[in-house]
Amino acid sequence: MEKQRENWGSRIGFVLAAAGSAVGLGNIWRFPYLTGENGGSAFILIYLVFVIFIGISVMIAEFSLGRNTGLAAVGAIKTYSDRWTFVGIMGVLSAFLIMGFYPVVGGWALAYIVESFTGLLTETPEAIEDTFVGFITGSFQPVIWMLVFLVLNIVIVAKGIKGGIEKAAKVLMPTLFILLIFIAIRSLTLEGAGAGIEFIFRPDFSEVTGATFLAALGQAFFSLSLGMGAMITYGSYLSKKETLAGNAVIVTALDVGVALLAGIAMFPALFAFGMEPAQGPGLVFVVIPIVFSQMGGIGVLFGIIFFIALAVAALTSSVSLMEVVVAYLIDQRGMLRKKAVYGTGIVMAIMGVLASLSMGVIGPMPVLQVGVFDLFDILSDKIFLGLGGMFIAIITGWVVNKETLRAELTNDGTIEFKLFEVWHFLIKWIIPPAVAIVAVVGIFDIEQTAVMILGLVVVGLLAVFSRKLN
Ligand code: TRP
Repeated sequence: MEKQRENWGSRIGFVLAAAGSAVGLGNIWRFPYLTGENGGSAFILIYLVFVIFIGISVMIAEFSLGRNTGLAAVGAIKTYSDRWTFVGIMGVLSAFLIMGFYPVVGGWALAYIVESFTGLLTETPEAIEDTFVGFITGSFQPVIWMLVFLVLNIVIVAKGIKGGIEKAAKVLMPTLFILLIFIAIRSLTLEGAGAGIEFIFRPDFSEVTGATFLAALGQAFFSLSLGMGAMITYGSYLSKKETLAGNAVIVTALDVGVALLAGIAMFPALFAFGMEPAQGPGLVFVVIPIVFSQMGGIGVLFGIIFFIALAVAALTSSVSLMEVVVAYLIDQRGMLRKKAVYGTGIVMAIMGVLASLSMGVIGPMPVLQVGVFDLFDILSDKIFLGLGGMFIAIITGWVVNKETLRAELTNDGTIEFKLFEVWHFLIKWIIPPAVAIVAVVGIFDIEQTAVMILGLVVVGLLAVFSRKLN
């Protein structure tokens, strides 16, 4: 099997695809509502510190492991050490968990494309809010839209990376960016926008707790697509000529830029309309339509374009999640791409149906005390990604040969990576304990203790029985 591994079509193709993976619902849907729930700018600052001191380094590590081995997450880690293969398996599990709820929100975005031109944007702010709650708690519609979103994923991933993922990313990511800038300008110039600007730019640490730190760390990993091997997998398709560290910085900057832009687009408007910042997952689906509804006819057009762009941003992210599972089945289990995609899709569909219904007809589960949607979300973002990122840092710093990494990051000495020693020090000595501390402090502080225990038990079992899984 001396087949040349499929590569990205072009340099810009890789950057856009990796940025496409990073930029998604995490930036536009999740970041603003977490910021709202966690008191605003203090949360943003902590998140930025984590992105800069942990996120970038872990991304460089993931790119290096992927390109060095030319294998997706599980295979890459296995190349270095059998003992740590469970981290790859954890990543596959994380992909399933995230894909258990991500398509539900992706489906909401699709539905809102249609809602935008069937009158939603001519309603009053109160009616817009009621529409959202009414919609997501329904049983039929949100499930259908979730399935439509999932089928789009299946079609793209079945085609392989170049045909689908790269092309979609190239056109629609720039569109989204421009649109957000436009909304941000509109939002900032609304009367009463000042309070919102203050909310996101003037740090107030009075409400910061251990749970805030855990939420910020989870969001940093989630938003950058780290901690579960997605970037290992994408890195494995990267040509030997690219600069890994440079690409990691560009992708991170784009990702953070979009998240901040989404915050700037939403909070000034939210305060201008006298709404509650801590309104949870509905934020983008309520605030943005209200902004557009104030603009008359042209607002409808913007609404349609915005939700198309949001759905596409979600798609370019979710395909990377599905690709982690599919690449595992192809590389390690010798499955054909199509079969791997369909099998994966069916499992994700079942999870998605349960998650969608948990917004309405099926309520919180006993003992765990959260719904299925929240269960998948908390498990992935508060446990699996953080611990996954920590383990990836440990593998990179302690298991992989330092000179191998130096060669990989300098393209065999042909380019410079001046900060190599700094990066290696962070990965080896700083990031593992830092993540561990945030996780421990957060666990004692968080409300969903039962979910946290469940997650830790699963990770523990995986670590112990990993050899049997290979
Ligand atoms: N980063 C994406 C977002 O912000 C979600 C995502 C895609 C992801 N791939 C991932 C999150 C891998 C964690 C791991 O929407």
